[in-house]
Amino acid sequence: MVGERGLVEKKVYIETYGCQMNEHDSERMLRVLEGSFYLETKEPQEADLILINTCSVREKPEHKVYSALGRYKRVKEERGAIIGVAGCVAQQEGLRLLDRVPYLDMVIGTHAISILPDLLRKVESTGKRVCETGFDEKGTYLKTIFPTDSLPKVKSFVTIMQGCDHFCSYCVVPFVRGREKSRPSAEILDEIRHLAERGVKEVCLLGQNVNGYGRGLDQEIGFPELLSRINEIEGIERIRFTTSHPKDLSNALIKAFSDLSKLCEHIHLPFQSGSDRILERMHRGYSIVSYLERIERLRAFRPEMAVTADVIVGFPGEEEEDFNQTLNLIRKVQFDDLFSFKYSTRKGTAAAQLDDQVEEKIKQQRLVVLQEIQREITLRKNLAVEGRTEEVLVEGISKQSDQDMTGRTRTNKSVNFQGDLQLVGKVVPVRITKGFAHSLRGERLLNAS
Ligand code: 5AD
Ligand code: SF4
Repeated sequence: MVGERGLVEKKVYIETYGCQMNEHDSERMLRVLEGSFYLETKEPQEADLILINTCSVREKPEHKVYSALGRYKRVKEERGAIIGVAGCVAQQEGLRLLDRVPYLDMVIGTHAISILPDLLRKVESTGKRVCETGFDEKGTYLKTIFPTDSLPKVKSFVTIMQGCDHFCSYCVVPFVRGREKSRPSAEILDEIRHLAERGVKEVCLLGQNVNGYGRGLDQEIGFPELLSRINEIEGIERIRFTTSHPKDLSNALIKAFSDLSKLCEHIHLPFQSGSDRILERMHRGYSIVSYLERIERLRAFRPEMAVTADVIVGFPGEEEEDFNQTLNLIRKVQFDDLFSFKYSTRKGTAAAQLDDQVEEKIKQQRLVVLQEIQREITLRKNLAVEGRTEEVLVEGISKQSDQDMTGRTRTNKSVNFQGDLQLVGKVVPVRITKGFAHSLRGERLLNAS
């Protein structure tokens, strides 16, 4: 197809696995590819370029990747599509992927997104296969990639740092994303101003450990100061961030929740285990007492603060007693929601060396018990919102009914209510009429001041 600029436009299909960071990386890939006149398609059969963006943090994705590659082999044969693998698996497997899959053209490591157009040009012009998995110490990979499309969006992720130096004993992130690196604040602020001018109302700042923001930069300001500068940007109405490490949650950051009007009262603070013995084996660097103290302090500043977390069951050596302590912590904190995972060994991590692995059957049982307890807590919390009026940032049409709009409260709970498309991008008062396990239902208040 010949586009407005008189250049031939091609289509790219991206399949994404894993976390928000990976979703954002896929978005960044789409942005850089627009500059090479590739537009997104949701149909792999009509794509000229197919990218599989993989994540190996919480699950073993190798099987998924190879079966996806199998599915797309035909598109390669029929249309001559270029096929690439990006993300964690690309980073870890590198050339091995090219060896195993003869029709694979590109392996794009986690630091190679900004040079994707160059890699693509090489494949297109020479037909040669490429593999780029080096870690870029200068941090060029973190440079802003400004959106060029004209579709207005209500919310946007903004990467403020990448990588991690914590080396929790179960985690592959430091190996696949490299060492912790912060982006200069001027670049971040520019990107957010640009987003605000294009109608973005909410930014979610992304990093593996955002409270470490600024370490290793010369200028530089810390995370609470960065938040305060973002709070000044006209047009931005809400600020969120993820993920924080309990060890680095400073008093200054806790205080920011009461000082900064745009900072939403929700924190995602993974605790991973309720047992000090297991936390030590995980190399987490905090105790349960100190974790609870931080939650108390957060709630002292903002009583309505929503708290969510990640937890792992069945870490090597986890006994029934340790697991019960995890359940006790969950009951005590009353999280608004939890992301729970069965421990799974990652090659190269310290925990992979431990020999007291927990049986799969026990891990599964523990996960079911934990999730049932949390399901009740989440439901109870959602029921408790009934009758209250919440500020909802409207995002679009609800998936459940096209008569309804959907948006989120400041505490990040999803709300459906009757409304129309005119409301998208606005913050409207909604009275909550019903709480469910995963969402809220409400009525828009028309005469609210
Ligand atoms: N096994 C299970 N869960 C893991 N996570 C990270 N590594 C593993 C692993 N090897 C979970 C942690 C982390 C989240 C992003 O993924 O809970 O916070
Ligand atoms: Fe992984 Fe720990 Fe770093 Fe989080 S803090 S990314 S769990 S190593």
